[in-house]
Amino acid sequence: MAKDHAVEFKGISKRFGHKTANDKVDLYLDRGVIMSLLGENGSGKTTLMNMLAGIYFPDEGEIFIDGKPVVIKSPKDAFDNGIGMIHQHFKLVDVFTAAENIVLGLREEGRLDRRKVSAKVREIAEKYGFDIDPDKKIYEMSVSEKQTVEIIKVLYRGADILILDEPTAVLTPQETGKLFKVLKAMRADGKSIILITHKLNEVMEISDVVAVLRKGQHVATVRTSETSEKELTEMMVGHTVSLDIDRPLPVDPKPRLTVAGLTVKDSEGVTKLDDVGLVAYGGEILGIAGIAGSGQKELLEAIAGLRHIQKGSIIYTPEHEAPAELVGKSPMEIKEAGVALAFVPEDRLGMGLVGGMGMTGNMMLRSWNKGKGIFVDTKAPEKLAEKVLENLDVQTPGIDYPVRKLSGGNVQKVLVGREIASAPSVLMSAYAVRGLDINTSYTIYNLMTEQKMKGVAVVFVGEDLDVLLELCDRILVLCGGKVSGVVDARKATKEQIGLMMTSTDFIHSSPMPGETISQAEAMVAKAREEEERLAREKAEAAAAAAAAAEAEAEAQTEAPEEAVKEVEKND
Ligand SMILES: Nc1ncnc2c1ncn2[C@@H]1O[C@H](COP(=O)(O)OP(=O)(O)OP(=O)(O)O)[C@@H](O)[C@H]1O
Ligand SMILES: [Mg+2]
Repeated sequence: MAKDHAVEFKGISKRFGHKTANDKVDLYLDRGVIMSLLGENGSGKTTLMNMLAGIYFPDEGEIFIDGKPVVIKSPKDAFDNGIGMIHQHFKLVDVFTAAENIVLGLREEGRLDRRKVSAKVREIAEKYGFDIDPDKKIYEMSVSEKQTVEIIKVLYRGADILILDEPTAVLTPQETGKLFKVLKAMRADGKSIILITHKLNEVMEISDVVAVLRKGQHVATVRTSETSEKELTEMMVGHTVSLDIDRPLPVDPKPRLTVAGLTVKDSEGVTKLDDVGLVAYGGEILGIAGIAGSGQKELLEAIAGLRHIQKGSIIYTPEHEAPAELVGKSPMEIKEAGVALAFVPEDRLGMGLVGGMGMTGNMMLRSWNKGKGIFVDTKAPEKLAEKVLENLDVQTPGIDYPVRKLSGGNVQKVLVGREIASAPSVLMSAYAVRGLDINTSYTIYNLMTEQKMKGVAVVFVGEDLDVLLELCDRILVLCGGKVSGVVDARKATKEQIGLMMTSTDFIHSSPMPGETISQAEAMVAKAREEEERLAREKAEAAAAAAAAAEAEAEAQTEAPEEAVKEVEKND
């Protein structure tokens, strides 16, 4: 008889009302294997894993652990079977320390010995290469540290089958690298790992096998080494997809938002934005690039009126109205004036969406302040909801179905779609495609372009440099809260932006009020000059290297290429 699988699903189905979330899924996973679970938003990934973790119980089918049928009716049953799940929304108690959270709910014989707990946590951390301080309080932790606590929590309980639901959606590339190292150490230790992610490059990098779900059904499980991103996308979607972004030239760009000398400190007095200046034009997409935490979030929040501003000015110039200063206005007033912010936080339901309400209700929330105008009549939000549903293909039984029950990616579509549907004249978005499947991500990119063509000034904070370079007209690069330059996205290279992300050697003086526009234009010109200079230097270096190599008779032209590779590794 063949070796027993660590986990096996046989004919597993799960329905919510009329919706079939999982349909007769047959799937298995062996020991010492990392499996990626891939599928479009709403394809049933989280639901399937929740049945392994004891959150839901299947309507049909059986689950086998090590070849034996098991009944998993609660998270405790899951733990007893060696299964631990790290959910997308962490379930930690903020005022407790890491160690306290790790043992929370555990009843070991008698009282807990703090020192013993800390020692065991340290031992686990050492074994798999985690960075953790057992005595640190959760509220003092970064998202990545909190995630580490969640993982150690399940390891502490002896889990050897680990499920991670979109763990990298909220991590920086560096943190993702660290997590992947830990996962590899666990694999080497014989653990079975199921990883849900929408990022195909991660799938290719970390997993041994990939299981694909489509509309609740298991399409296939393939070896990662024998597939490609393109093939996986087609398996997920069910047909060939074009992953091209159309980028028309800006039409009649006019300055819409002129930021000058913007300085913002956080509640602890740490400078988050340092003398930032920019001009966002109607009819263009201005990308914002930077290493996570370089001030992207603070910049958009400051413009939206959500941050206390130490210094600076934000002039908003609507299409047919006189320019107005936004600093000092309330978030409501700014929204009403037509400056929209679709910011995707770590907790989607935390950002102005009410889980218990349907799409219509949530549309009203966004627009109630428009008051007596169009929105007294409830048909308007209904229409908006229908438009969002159609444009973004939101998977929901209806516009009044509670958004809390939608899949993660579909909640996000409602969030982004609502801001777009409010017909803003400045549309700012941060991390708009986080947690969205690849097909939907492209829908969002196309919607941004559509907005641009309508004359909207689109400000797009993104994480993927390839996408920024393909989608945007100009890219502003932030480094440690400062602007390190603005580049033409049609000409810039990834390497160049990577450099600007890590150094402000390219820094340009921020424009002053009054002369902002010309200064901003000068900034762009200067950035272009820099860029040309860089390109020239690079070409010269390459030529010099080639000459030297020739002299040595041995072709050694790799030097400049090596430098490029270094940069790629770093970004
Ligand atoms: N508690 C629930 N009540 C009703 N419907 C639900 C519930 N949980 C999930 N669903 C539905 O089941 C389907 C599958 O959802 P699931 O969350 O498993 O998708 P997913 O593949 O994890 O998607 P995403 O990539 O967006 O996270 C969706 O249509 C979703 O709306
Ligand atoms: Mg999910």
